[in-house]
Amino acid sequence: MAVFKLKINGKSREVDVDPFTPLLWVLRDHLGLVGTKFGCGIAQCGACTVHVDGNAVRSCQMPVQLIGEGEVTTIEGLSEEGDHPVQKAWLEQDVPQCGYCQAGQIMSATALLKQNPNPTDEEIETAMSGNICRCGTYTRIKRAIKSASQNQNA
Ligand code: FES
Ligand code: FES
Repeated sequence: MAVFKLKINGKSREVDVDPFTPLLWVLRDHLGLVGTKFGCGIAQCGACTVHVDGNAVRSCQMPVQLIGEGEVTTIEGLSEEGDHPVQKAWLEQDVPQCGYCQAGQIMSATALLKQNPNPTDEEIETAMSGNICRCGTYTRIKRAIKSASQNQNA
């Protein structure tokens, strides 16, 4: 076990865990941030996606010892009021079905739009290809990303 000081959603948090503990379990089990979901556990589904320094990462495969000074953002920290342009677009397009994959989808979409505010259809498909939705909400996800892109560039 070892003590790690992490920066999560703008706050300093301390955990005493095995250094190889995946960030996902630190978030969910040690810090109670259960918005980030467990799907496959092997970086294949995207359900556990969070940001580290603005980049989308699969928290199920990120040992806590590698986070260091990195700023971690989870779905809970995306916006204080839950009104990030991507979240608004998700509501407007009524994207979720069961909802399980959606936090990961939104974190991947927000990272994409931060790096590329005007993505083409192909760029959206490539950026989102690692996020699986068993309910098949892909068409609405794409529409919402387009809408968020237009709104944030308006
Ligand atoms: S749970 Fe991490 S990618 Fe599936
Ligand atoms: S909304 Fe059900 S898994 Fe995506």
